[in-house]
Amino acid sequence: MKTEQLIEQERIYLLHTIDRPPFVLEKGNGMRLFDQEGNRYLDFVSGISVNAFGYGNFEIIEIIKQQAAKLIHCSNLFYSLPQVELAKLLVENSFADKVFLCNSGTEAIEAAIKFTRRWGDTQGRRNSQPRYGIVTMTGSFHGRTYGALSATGQSKFQKGFGPLLPGFTTVEFNNLEAVEKAINENICAILVEPLQAEGGVNAADREFLLGLRQICDQRDLLLLFDEIQFGLSRSGSLFAYQHFGVEPDIMTLAKPLGGGLPIGAVLMRQKIAQNLAPGDHGTTFGGGPLVCAVATKVVQKLMAPELLAQVRQNGEYLHMRLNQLKARHSQIREVRGLGLIAGIVTDYPAKRVVGEFRKRGVLVCTAGKEVIRMLPPLIVQKEHIDEAVDIFDEILTQGVTDEGN
Ligand SMILES: Cc1ncc(COP(=O)(O)O)c(C=O)c1O
Repeated sequence: MKTEQLIEQERIYLLHTIDRPPFVLEKGNGMRLFDQEGNRYLDFVSGISVNAFGYGNFEIIEIIKQQAAKLIHCSNLFYSLPQVELAKLLVENSFADKVFLCNSGTEAIEAAIKFTRRWGDTQGRRNSQPRYGIVTMTGSFHGRTYGALSATGQSKFQKGFGPLLPGFTTVEFNNLEAVEKAINENICAILVEPLQAEGGVNAADREFLLGLRQICDQRDLLLLFDEIQFGLSRSGSLFAYQHFGVEPDIMTLAKPLGGGLPIGAVLMRQKIAQNLAPGDHGTTFGGGPLVCAVATKVVQKLMAPELLAQVRQNGEYLHMRLNQLKARHSQIREVRGLGLIAGIVTDYPAKRVVGEFRKRGVLVCTAGKEVIRMLPPLIVQKEHIDEAVDIFDEILTQGVTDEGN
């Protein structure tokens, strides 16, 4: 089907929930994507942090083939080896004692909210005071289903969908005093992204996260980290909490975990897990053998010391090159981020700059209206960073004319 025809049919048959640029992706290889007209793109989006190993990774394709031939799905009514292997790998390499597996980021957040409330309920009954409130942050993004949407600290995502789930109190991100003020006898947890990606690529201050840990310990609250976009090695450590040196009680993962297949995970301490019994929560597809076999391979690859060292080096290189560009172009107002995620604020609407990149064969995306977001696959090399930054240089030198579609 020709590109124009496909775009027209998309308009007719699909619910319009997103604006897309006018080309049709067909295949990928390493750091490159190709549209169906044969145009080649350097990928600095990685399927929004999903494709950690780029495209066509041989090991991931092999695992998919082998496991698909054995068993794709068998239901959580039955045991399967890949599920247990994945959970063991995650537990043995994190703060957690138990794992719950589901299908997406938002679903992991839903589960985390339920597990938190169950813990709060159990604690509350002991002290004859119900505890269900969760403190969340301005600028946060946790997903599109009702619990996750209610926890999200950006009203633009919530508009027209009320009433939302009660029990969330949003306070200013990185403001410890505001968190302290929000805590009352109903609050049982604090939910935070160590780095807010959708919210504009804003990292938490280490002191802020340390302060949250201290508050949670002193007031007997749970600390929840949403590492769905920034976790799993993008920071240069397997988990972002390890980068900051602050352990949560519950952590959500998703995006890169399934190597492109859908999966979400909630990692938790035993004190939370012990309040949940068979029948309390569940899923049909979550933790199926195919995705778990792939996810096990993905985590093994993501925790390899050589990969982590490479992410750290290339992350520093990306930020160094972007800051050099900032020094030369006054249109760049700010460069933010950490590891292999960068957010750049310029004098132009982000969408138009993204269009200029695309015209020149580089895919980047936005994080809100102002921020240009770069989050390449973790296999990115210096030469790719040079290519993307040199093109940014060209865009800023020539000026932004793209209409931004
Ligand atoms: C931090 C964070 N939490 C939750 C989600 C929701 O994940 P999903 O789109 O898989 O439902 C996202 C998605 O962008 C995210 O970045």
